[in-house]
Amino acid sequence: MYLLVIWRVDKLKSKILDILSAKKDFTSGEQLSQICWVSRTAIWKNINSLKKEGYEIETQSRLGYRLVKRPDALLKTEILNNLATIKWGREYLYVLDEIDSTNELAKKYANSGKPEGTVVVAEKQLKGKGRLGRTWVSPEGQGIWFSVILRPLMLPVYAPQITFVLAVGMVRALEKALGIKATIKWPNDILINKRKVAGILTELSAEIERINYVVFGIGVNVKQKEEDFPEKFRVKSISLDMALGRTVSRVQVLQAMLEELEKTYNEYLELGFDYILKEWKVNSITLGANVRVLMGEEMLEGKAIDLDEDGSIIIQDKNGEQHRVIAGDVSLRNSEGNYV
Ligand code: BTN
Repeated sequence: MYLLVIWRVDKLKSKILDILSAKKDFTSGEQLSQICWVSRTAIWKNINSLKKEGYEIETQSRLGYRLVKRPDALLKTEILNNLATIKWGREYLYVLDEIDSTNELAKKYANSGKPEGTVVVAEKQLKGKGRLGRTWVSPEGQGIWFSVILRPLMLPVYAPQITFVLAVGMVRALEKALGIKATIKWPNDILINKRKVAGILTELSAEIERINYVVFGIGVNVKQKEEDFPEKFRVKSISLDMALGRTVSRVQVLQAMLEELEKTYNEYLELGFDYILKEWKVNSITLGANVRVLMGEEMLEGKAIDLDEDGSIIIQDKNGEQHRVIAGDVSLRNSEGNYV
């Protein structure tokens, strides 16, 4: 009963927003109540609640209501407004003010049987997780922190390919939403102007022959200014606002990511990994570059010459010997010979 009430309130708010968005002019409370099949008091209450969420709605006693501005908060109504995914985020979309980690919550939902395409988004993460056990700094309102449940019918050995698929989807999404050219640093960093704008964390639950689920999480830096990044990451990090020199809409970028990531993932399932890998290679900043790879205590320097079909990178050292690297941290050598 409680869930039904939340669902109806969400639907009513979206409906009111749809009606107000369709017109530049005022819509009367009477009209709204007739179209939505609810009392004028219900309309008035929902308009007030929308105002509290940050929608600017002009109210005039004789004329009614007019939508002046939508907020750029990651609100469910905003994310769902004109979202063009087939499945992702449509049935199950959880939007939270604060959470330890969206990946952790998505894994709980996956363990309780939630389907592929379930999305978890948070304004702030208290224990955001990065790759290789690191922390991912996720301050409130500064970025987009989200996770998605996948249930691919494939052998677990192929699961690492998914990170590559997602990286390609990210490049496509940033191009689509903002017309900006991003590149991929092996295996999962998304860069703009050679600085990291987003990272992907893919986690797997599997038996030997079957994937139970994959949960991937993406963190995108959007609003930060240079000084907002922790000092040790400052020169290597960038936000979308910094890259474009203007304010970017987080809702628009999140929608584009869900749409393009879903599309790229479906292409991968239909057309296979080679199809995606070609696009990954075109957008990779790592292949062909002189790199240093840190693998725990071990370090390797050489040229990144290719990718294996499981996503490992092949490094050729100065003696011409080839090394296959499954996981590690890559730095690229710049024109001064330093690794950054
Ligand atoms: C990396 O580059 O190290 C991966 C970073 C992934 C961060 C995202 S933010 C949303 C999701 N929840 C987490 O705890 N981590 C991922």
